[in-house]
Order: sequence, then C-alpha cells, then structure tokens
Amino acid sequence: MLKKARIAVLVSGGGTNLQALLDAQRSGALAHGEIVLTVSSRPGVYALERAERAGVPGFVLPAEDGEAALEELLARFEIDFIILAGFLRILSPAFTARWPRRILNIHPSLIPSFCGKGMYGLRVHEAALARGVKVTGATVHFVNEIPDGGEILLQKAVEVLPGDTPETLQRRVMEQAEWLLLPQAAEQLSRAVAQEV
Ligand code: GRF
Repeated sequence: MLKKARIAVLVSGGGTNLQALLDAQRSGALAHGEIVLTVSSRPGVYALERAERAGVPGFVLPAEDGEAALEELLARFEIDFIILAGFLRILSPAFTARWPRRILNIHPSLIPSFCGKGMYGLRVHEAALARGVKVTGATVHFVNEIPDGGEILLQKAVEVLPGDTPETLQRRVMEQAEWLLLPQAAEQLSRAVAQEV
C-alpha cells in the first residue's frame, strides 16, 4: 500500500486555502498526501470549523506558546511536511532550518513583487494597485529564514482589471490562482515525500 505524506496545515483566518486542500483530498487530486493536522495561531477562526467538518484535528497555538509547542504537535502527529495557508506568524530561522524543503507557503503576488515582511492579506493587493501593475498572481514557495525568500515552486499570473479594489483583486487571485496552485504544490511535494518513505 502506498504510504501517504502526512501534512499539517497552519492557518490564522478564514481558511479558504485550507478548504481548497481539503477539497483536493476528497476529490482524489491530493492522492499522495493526507491532511492530518490543522494548527491555528488564533482561536475562533473559521478555518478551524472547516477542519472540524472534514474530521481533521485542530489546535490553537497562541504566539506566547512558542515554537516548542508546535514542534511537539508536529512530532506527535508524525508530520512529513507543513503548509502555511494564511498563517500570520513568522517562523524562526531555527525552526525553518529543521524543515528544509518541508514547509510550503502561498503568497498572493508574483514574488519578488509585493512580498517580504509586513506584506500580507489586503496590503499585498493594495500595493499592487498603487503601483499600477496590470498582472499580478500567486506564488507557492518553500519557506526558509527570509520572509517570502525561499525557492519558488509554482506561480500563476492573474489579470488586474480596471476598477479593481483590493478586495475584488484579492478574490480573483484566490479563485484563479491560489486555490489551484496550493493543492497542486501539495500533491507535488507529497509525491516526492511519499517516494522517500
Ligand atoms: C491568502 O491570501 C494567502 O495567499 C495568504 O493569506 C490568505 C489566507 O486566506 N497567505 P485564507 O485563510 O486561506 O482564506
């Protein structure tokens, strides 16, 4: 029997990207991986409800709990790799060094544009509109010690349309790029990890 990669998804908010991963699991698109753990940096977020509905254990780890608590959970659930899906905490260099090419992040722009420290959520789309770019998109990359600086795995371009607001642009980037790219990257890495074990 094929051994599936065991995936932890780290969230902080609505969890639409988590939902895309759960949907991919249900449809069979995520064939080589299995989401077995969800961790939120904030209590009461909708992402946790999505996890519960899918039967995936969910935990809340506030920042003051530190990374040791996170490491403990990852070990307990025998996690092979981590997906940051809207996780609003920067992981320490010591943490990222322990998980080389084993942490994925989704960023809502075409890196290296509109990325780095402080560039998250609507701010990314505000910056893209302020600069007047006609094309933006999303990027899935490996996480290292530099915020949004790790190796790029997948990117997809999305058009900016006249009259866009940060909110309409955010929605289009999610629908046309993020929700497609993240499951695709998760399957790609799962396949690589599953072959190793
Ligand atoms: C997404 O825009 C993602 O690119 C960014 O944070 C947002 C998370 O949204 N990293 P959701 O919680 O998945 O709905």
